[in-house]
Amino acid sequence: MTAKLKITGGNPLCGSVAISGAKNAALPALFACLLTEEPCELGNLPQLRDIKSALAVLSAMGAEHSDANGKTVVNAARLRTTVAPYQLVKTMRASVLALGPLLARAGEATVSLPGGCVIGARPVDMHIAGFEKMGAEIQIQNGNIVARAKRLRGANIKLPQPTVTGSENLMMAAALAEGITVLENAAREPEITDLAVFLNAMGADISGAGESTITIRGVDRLHSAKHFVMPDRIEAGTYLCAAAACGGDVFLENADLSHLSALAEKLRECGAEVLNCNDSGDDGDDGDDGDGDGDGNSENKKRGARITMHNRPRAVDAVTAPYPGYPTDLQAQWMAVNCVAEGCATITETVFENRFMHAPELARMGADIELRGNAARVRGVASLSGAPVMATDIRASAALVVAALAARGTSEIDRIYHLERGYATMEKKLRALGANAERK
Ligand code: UD1
Repeated sequence: MTAKLKITGGNPLCGSVAISGAKNAALPALFACLLTEEPCELGNLPQLRDIKSALAVLSAMGAEHSDANGKTVVNAARLRTTVAPYQLVKTMRASVLALGPLLARAGEATVSLPGGCVIGARPVDMHIAGFEKMGAEIQIQNGNIVARAKRLRGANIKLPQPTVTGSENLMMAAALAEGITVLENAAREPEITDLAVFLNAMGADISGAGESTITIRGVDRLHSAKHFVMPDRIEAGTYLCAAAACGGDVFLENADLSHLSALAEKLRECGAEVLNCNDSGDDGDDGDDGDGDGDGNSENKKRGARITMHNRPRAVDAVTAPYPGYPTDLQAQWMAVNCVAEGCATITETVFENRFMHAPELARMGADIELRGNAARVRGVASLSGAPVMATDIRASAALVVAALAARGTSEIDRIYHLERGYATMEKKLRALGANAERK
């Protein structure tokens, strides 16, 4: 029997939770440790299944790791093999991020092709074409990507569309290549900037990360470095959506709203008040400091984001797009908010095909959703009702959690191993917000 999450909903969410380190920044940072024979220290790694999967891939390659005081030290002094086996890669597509670092450091890499997944075909052709442009010879053999290059050469690579892990993979490989690589039409997600910060701390020479053109001047070797992983904007966004759907007053410690501008705009349109609160910022501090209302003073001294929502949300459309557009990883959660909103909204998915697996499950809770190709028309209902539902991927599960929190009655979300790939101790965090949530 797989683990389930039992939620009895219908109450507003109130209180404070700490947002963990970003899964999608931690994963490339872990694989980047393969680029040097010196140990690297990573702080703020989230406690997630995907992180364990990445560490298992690193271990299989001979990289050792140890944990102390909330930090993880990865030591890839000796590589036992440059082969990432299917058994490990199939559990997590992001294992393809081993390819760039191994190829650049060891001159060869064999990584199993990740294959399709529930949210679409998700090919890695742009990663492969980029490595080839840098002089690698690549073959697909027995379901593996087999790559070889004596030394990668810098190249001008124009990506046909922004790919997040593709940009990261090529950036890591280019860091140790001979000459300059210019990556055009690169993805601009904050996780790419976070990786560039770490690589530069290791001695790389990268500029332009976070913009469409990234320039990487190759260096001969990289060295030991420390890095503190950025907060998880998708985890934060999920709790913001939950508060918008249920109402309440929630403080998300460590969250950085500047990474979530597209969502913040939607939340304000739907009737929520959203503030970025940080030590130096004027955004969330004014009105709280010294006004004597006792309204979250101690919380607002901490860095984070705060949402207050007093009414039923208003329906608001969303169209997913690469950063800084509305994130595909928050599409399902936004659909859940709209299921209980006043009015009708259209949610359009442009990044991945087949990413509406949550819609039929939401319908089982009483949601009114009509799917038409890559668009979902959602007519808000006055209330959802709890039901047994099934998780299909990380973010689809998160949408079911948001809906279950807003619904009347009890829901049991099955297959939460999907959820646990991306959300650390969710039931505990939800209980800290006053929700009735239990892992079974
Ligand atoms: C990353 C994130 C994932 C997020 C996605 C989009 C990680 C570990 N995962 O996934 O959570 O949902 O970005 O924000 O960071 N594509 C190709 N060929 C390629 C590569 C991509 O056609 O070689 C297509 C994909 O099918 C998709 C689009 O490009 O339609 C964007 O995908 P991409 O940015 O690569 O997603 P991931 O990096 O896999």
